[in-house]
Amino acid sequence: MKLDPKAIRYLTSEDFKVLAGVEAGSRNHEVVPTPLISQLSGLRGGSGVHRSISNLAKINLIAKVKNSKYDGYRLTYGGLDYLALNAHQKQKVVYSVGNQIGVGKESDIVVVAHSSGSQRILKIHRLGRISFRTVKTNRDYLRHRSTGSWMYMSRLAAMKEFAFMKALRENGFSVPEPIAQNRHTIVMSLIDAFPLRQISKVPNPEGLYSELMEMILELARFGLIHGDFNEFNLLIKEEVDADAREKYTPDTKLDDVADEDIRLVPVLIDFPQMVSIDHMNAEMYFDRDVNCVKRYFQRKFHFVSEVPGPTFAQARKNFMKNPGKRLDIEVEASGFSRKMARELEKYMQDVGADGDGREDGEDEEGSEEEEEESGEESGSETGEPNEAESSKEADKDVEESSQQLEGLKVSGA
Ligand SMILES: Nc1ncnc2c1ncn2[C@@H]1O[C@H](COP(=O)(O)OP(=O)(O)OP(=O)(O)O)[C@@H](O)[C@H]1O
Ligand SMILES: [Mg+2]
Repeated sequence: MKLDPKAIRYLTSEDFKVLAGVEAGSRNHEVVPTPLISQLSGLRGGSGVHRSISNLAKINLIAKVKNSKYDGYRLTYGGLDYLALNAHQKQKVVYSVGNQIGVGKESDIVVVAHSSGSQRILKIHRLGRISFRTVKTNRDYLRHRSTGSWMYMSRLAAMKEFAFMKALRENGFSVPEPIAQNRHTIVMSLIDAFPLRQISKVPNPEGLYSELMEMILELARFGLIHGDFNEFNLLIKEEVDADAREKYTPDTKLDDVADEDIRLVPVLIDFPQMVSIDHMNAEMYFDRDVNCVKRYFQRKFHFVSEVPGPTFAQARKNFMKNPGKRLDIEVEASGFSRKMARELEKYMQDVGADGDGREDGEDEEGSEEEEEESGEESGSETGEPNEAESSKEADKDVEESSQQLEGLKVSGA
């Protein structure tokens, strides 16, 4: 499912009201009956609503579903994308949509622009889409999944990521600037850098290695474990070293800077799987993060550190002796509750979205995953009892937290 924004400018505000009506109805109806759409859209008169419905269905923002009991519509991922994009545009966070630069297993990454022309990143969470390997083991689970749940879970992932990015950024960690969150999407600053995975040579592997280990320990000191600290989620920026700055003018191109004067600055991304240092499996996650870096440096740069560890025991000791602000607790208080965290964690485990999902010994090069568009199509026509019915309460919580999170917007956008 790619974001295709072409049709957005042809939609009227009525179309958007109807689309929002289908969204509202989807929270507790697997298939939203037409009269309910009409009612929820808040529009008077039938023919306008019907025209909008047929417009929206034509461009696949909603899909017609024939149910055993009644006919109606359900929201598609495309429809949810448009609602989020429309909200970002209204809030002047996004002016235009550019290229999609990444298709992850659980997200799409799109370059967008602000009206000032500056580029930003729109990350669209898609928790319904999972790798081929995990589909096999979870097929049954997926069949019972409702529209309500993929929308809800993707939204939780976006809320969680935004809340953590914000807390980290404010406490001096090297992460993108979080700009806005809406539904299953977040907007953040674009980091002009490549992932570590694409970097074939590092002048001083030891320096970068210890900086990364420092970062893992520093996260722990603030009560956090990233949980997916790997070569895909570390972007490596190149900067002129502070000590060498006087040798160059501010507009010297990096290509003209001597290798020994360039400093590599890691920027950490991708936070939906972060856990607290008090998590039941904290030690496992911590060790996995550390070993990921160790293994990668050995394989790619033939670098093995003489310093053992760091171990979880060390990290904990550090954390007890000289704790930073408890960001795990701060995030909980900011609106992403413990209950939501648990729900999201369980879902991510069930669909195999727990981390980037790359296994030990997996082929290093060309590990492009085979992917299957699952998700949206499943479960909608089976007339299964609706999970979303029972999650009405939860939905209200999310609504409130989301508003709380919106209040946290970091940049003036
Ligand atoms: N703020 C950003 N600036 C520049 N590039 C980014 C940014 N955020 C993400 N990317 C690019 O998109 C890729 C995927 O982003 P991210 O890790 O957040 O998503 P993901 O769901 O984990 O995807 P995957 O399953 O591929 O790991 C990154 O490896 C990076 O190349
Ligand atoms: Mg990633």
